[in-house]
Amino acid sequence: MKPLPPPLFFLLFLFLLSTTATPANATKPATPKTPMLSPTPSPTSSPTSPATKAPTSSPLDPKQIEALQSFNIPTTRDPCVQPSPRNATICDNSKPFRHLISLHLSNCSSDLSLSFNALKSLSSLRSLSFTNCRVSPIRFPSDLSLSLTSFSCIRSLRRLSGVWLSRFVNLTDLTVSQTPVSASGVYVILGNMHKLKTLTISHANLTGFLPGHLHLNLTHVDLSDNKLKGKIPTSLTLLEDLGFLNLSSNGLNGEIPAEFGDLVSLKNLSLASNSLSGSIPDTMSGIPGLVHVDLSNNQLNGTVPKFLSELKGLKVLNLENNGLHGVLPFNASFIKRLAVFKVAGNANLCYNHTVLSSKLKLGVAPCDKHGLPMSPPPSKETSADRESDSSDYTDDGDDNKTNKNHHGPSKVVLGFAIGISSIVFLIIFLILLAKWCC
Ligand SMILES: *[C@@H]1O[C@H](CO)[C@@H](O)[C@H](O)[C@H]1NC(C)=O
Ligand SMILES: *[C@@H]1O[C@H](CO)[C@@H](O)[C@H](O)[C@H]1NC(C)=O
Ligand SMILES: *[C@@H]1O[C@H](CO)[C@@H](O)[C@H](O)[C@H]1NC(C)=O
Ligand SMILES: *[C@@H]1O[C@H](CO)[C@@H](O)[C@H](O)[C@H]1NC(C)=O
Ligand SMILES: *[C@@H]1O[C@H](CO)[C@@H](O)[C@H](O)[C@H]1NC(C)=O
Ligand SMILES: *[C@@H]1O[C@H](CO)[C@@H](O)[C@H](O)[C@H]1NC(C)=O
Ligand SMILES: *[C@@H]1O[C@H](CO)[C@@H](O)[C@H](O)[C@H]1NC(C)=O
Ligand SMILES: *[C@@H]1O[C@H](CO)[C@@H](O)[C@H](O)[C@H]1NC(C)=O
Ligand SMILES: *[C@@H]1O[C@H](CO)[C@@H](O)[C@H](O)[C@H]1NC(C)=O
Ligand SMILES: *[C@@H]1O[C@H](CO)[C@@H](O)[C@H](O)[C@H]1NC(C)=O
Ligand SMILES: *[C@@H]1O[C@H](CO)[C@@H](O)[C@H](O)[C@H]1NC(C)=O
Repeated sequence: MKPLPPPLFFLLFLFLLSTTATPANATKPATPKTPMLSPTPSPTSSPTSPATKAPTSSPLDPKQIEALQSFNIPTTRDPCVQPSPRNATICDNSKPFRHLISLHLSNCSSDLSLSFNALKSLSSLRSLSFTNCRVSPIRFPSDLSLSLTSFSCIRSLRRLSGVWLSRFVNLTDLTVSQTPVSASGVYVILGNMHKLKTLTISHANLTGFLPGHLHLNLTHVDLSDNKLKGKIPTSLTLLEDLGFLNLSSNGLNGEIPAEFGDLVSLKNLSLASNSLSGSIPDTMSGIPGLVHVDLSNNQLNGTVPKFLSELKGLKVLNLENNGLHGVLPFNASFIKRLAVFKVAGNANLCYNHTVLSSKLKLGVAPCDKHGLPMSPPPSKETSADRESDSSDYTDDGDDNKTNKNHHGPSKVVLGFAIGISSIVFLIIFLILLAKWCC
């Protein structure tokens, strides 16, 4: 065999280079981006911090400096300069002394005590929040209770009482999470908070019933993971501005009120893990903006309503573990559009196999011609499958994506084999070409 002439070697080299060069080209545009990002914020941020400092140079009220020191917050650097360390402090621009309007205490040491006198000097605060601050319960001066518009307590203050919280009558935002709250009902806490817009009391072992009426300007209600019981009051459906409702993991029972469709602003809804019964109300078709619907782990019955497939913005639909029956009214393109779609654990639910493929692994059986499940749903198999492909519907892959998951390695091998053989073919071709022409 004659050795390859140099120009052909060069050609082969070029070919190999072009195949290996693609990843290098792909990374090239990314590399200049990353260094460019870091210089841009620094020129903008460094002039702004002296700029905010320059015009308002009045110092923080000495009493408040003393209070901060008693809370172990360092004050050697002016606490009013933004951004403050850990975002702990924000001040107003009053003269001759500035005053704190926001204070965030986090990761407090266990020996920290919040004295009544220190708190008394802080009645300029609008926002007060605690994160990981397990200090003893404190008596709040009434001036401070009245001045706050935002109060947040996450894993802090050991335990709270409803009566204590109810004194914050000017709040627009209330957040309590992972802190036990003792109250004989949500109403005790909210009764006098007439300006409330966002309400979170979650993981708090809160007992009692949902309040008979809530303030109409609420946009966000999260009372998840408590011990609330009773029915969902119809009055809840009067909250026209409510965009977020999470009542999951409580002991709520009864039916979802038919008036639920009046919650026209609702986007995220979770009523999961309660004891709700009855059917999914058809009126919900009147809520155009629904994005996230989780009704899993209840005792809902009836059929799956078709209107759900007409919700253009829907991303998450979880109806798992209920008593729903009948034929799933969805096609594959709807299901693939969603990031999460779960319907397993509904023994009498089935899918039309001329419309939906078994490869979607919905965890329900195919229907017979009467719309009844053909066989008991393959529960063992599907639960195992769902664990491994839990992100089945997160990408817009084709019908064969589950195959890809199971036979992924063989495809890689196949691709490799094709690549190798095409290179071999090219070499043979070049050799033949060399023989014929030269
Ligand atoms: C500090 O607060 C600002 C404005 O509220 C926020 O954008 C920023 O992310 C916060 N920084 C930290 C470290 O929490
Ligand atoms: C508080 O501590 C946690 C864990 O120790 C840490 O992740 C967090 O960043 C800390 N928060 C602040 C504001 O320092
Ligand atoms: C808070 O509400 C009370 C009455 O409920 C009112 O007198 C007071 O002016 C309010 N305080 C602030 C700072 O808005
Ligand atoms: C709620 O109660 C349970 C059991 O009574 C307890 O294990 C859990 O820690 C409590 N949660 C809070 C936030 O106190
Ligand atoms: C409720 O919201 C409306 C419209 O945003 C506003 O006019 C009204 O003053 C608010 N009511 C209260 C008590 O904040
Ligand atoms: C509702 O709350 C639960 C528990 O706090 C949480 O796991 C879930 O993600 C929340 N759902 C929505 C829709 O925010
Ligand atoms: C659905 O549940 C409700 C309330 O538990 C019950 O009254 C109704 O008969 C049930 N319907 C079906 C079709 O099972
Ligand atoms: C609402 O649900 C969507 C989709 O699951 C999620 O991306 C978004 O963060 C949720 N909004 C809130 C306020 O939890
Ligand atoms: C799937 O269902 C949606 C909603 O019902 C409909 O708009 C769409 O045309 C259907 N797609 C196919 C391929 O049938
Ligand atoms: C399944 O879909 C086909 C085609 O849309 C339809 O003709 C058939 O009646 C459906 N079967 C059931 C049980 O709904
Ligand atoms: C899935 O693969 C089969 C062959 O295994 C093929 O006939 C079918 O067209 C593929 N479906 C899609 C949507 O690519």
